[in-house]
Amino acid sequence: MDSHKLLGLRPAMGWNSWNTFTWDINEQLIRDVADRFVSEGYKDAGYEYIVIDDCWSLKERDSEGNLVHDPIKFPSGIRALADYIHEKGLKFGMYSCVGTHTCAGFPGSFEHEFQDAQLLAEWGVDYLKYDYCFKPRSMSGELLYKRMSLALKNCGRDILFSACNWGEDNVYQWIRESGAHMYRSTGDIQDNWDSIKSLTLSQLDKTCYTGSFCHNDMDMLVVGMYGGSNDGFIGSKIGGCSDNEYKTHFALWCMMGSPLMIGCDIRNANDVTKDILLNPELIKINQDVEGRGAYRIKPEPQWFHSDDVFMLVKVLTDGDLAIGFFNLSDTQREISLQFWDLGLPYASGFSLELYDCWEYKELGKFKERFAPTVPARDCLVVRAKLVK
Ligand code: GLA
Repeated sequence: MDSHKLLGLRPAMGWNSWNTFTWDINEQLIRDVADRFVSEGYKDAGYEYIVIDDCWSLKERDSEGNLVHDPIKFPSGIRALADYIHEKGLKFGMYSCVGTHTCAGFPGSFEHEFQDAQLLAEWGVDYLKYDYCFKPRSMSGELLYKRMSLALKNCGRDILFSACNWGEDNVYQWIRESGAHMYRSTGDIQDNWDSIKSLTLSQLDKTCYTGSFCHNDMDMLVVGMYGGSNDGFIGSKIGGCSDNEYKTHFALWCMMGSPLMIGCDIRNANDVTKDILLNPELIKINQDVEGRGAYRIKPEPQWFHSDDVFMLVKVLTDGDLAIGFFNLSDTQREISLQFWDLGLPYASGFSLELYDCWEYKELGKFKERFAPTVPARDCLVVRAKLVK
């Protein structure tokens, strides 16, 4: 099969510099992340793209209109960095913007789309995150994403196109047709529970708009940051989550089919962070090849629960179901799943054999219903198999 047709088949997995480092990036950092991808098991777990976000270029293009990398941050040049990453069997991503400038005020690709796509291809770039700041008001965002998509698809290199318009302008209605492989559906994540919760709730009625070749990107992961960003908005020292909150965040992104772009400093990740980010069962659910969105079930009794207690069910390629029991509220809850809500009537004679994807253990065989108690801001994720 034609391999470049498969770009974006599954949600992208990788690391992005923005959450923790914002403007403070350099080639040594990026090389270190690539080294850690290999030595700490991220690559084996499926993480692939290493992406430099905003603030990598000079403030002006050169006399031929080309973007120029910042020679202090990247003294060996971008091509050399791409080569380093490729030699490790990984892929390399960069960042630009629909508008005249990026969000941090560096040159954007407006009216330079085809030239920039060419340059990215020459540098060996495999992924472009394309932001939405400084867009001329008279221009339609839809058209500008179509432009860059066309430029990338014809630049001579397979480049995954990651649109980032924060869910504006009814992006759901046109982004798949534009050619983008993933699209940001939300404003910027912050390293705190309220942000994780509100991004999640904003996407629960949008699960039908994700899927293979155009995934709903709920923003980078904040797992493992513990308030460690150099940017006050994303986190600074007042941010940070508990380990359970990070675990729930990761489970939500996996179940909802979001790309998994790590945002913490993986050079200093603790064991809990690694256990979360490298969980093979959750990653398998996220990467399931049919790429189906999850449907939501509201638990009974409905009067007892608010919107922040729910189940998500993802139909997997092999016939299993991934089921997440999410309690985003601040008190412990019993969350009852009646199997008829999955399409499984009692009269069928089938039971569900449940496997706990966090504890890595069988929970047993259940008929008709399963009702775990889930602590506040926590979750249980099971893989369910139909058995007689
Ligand atoms: C926007 C994006 C972020 C990040 C910054 C960079 O806010 O949504 O993910 O790329 O720009 O300036």
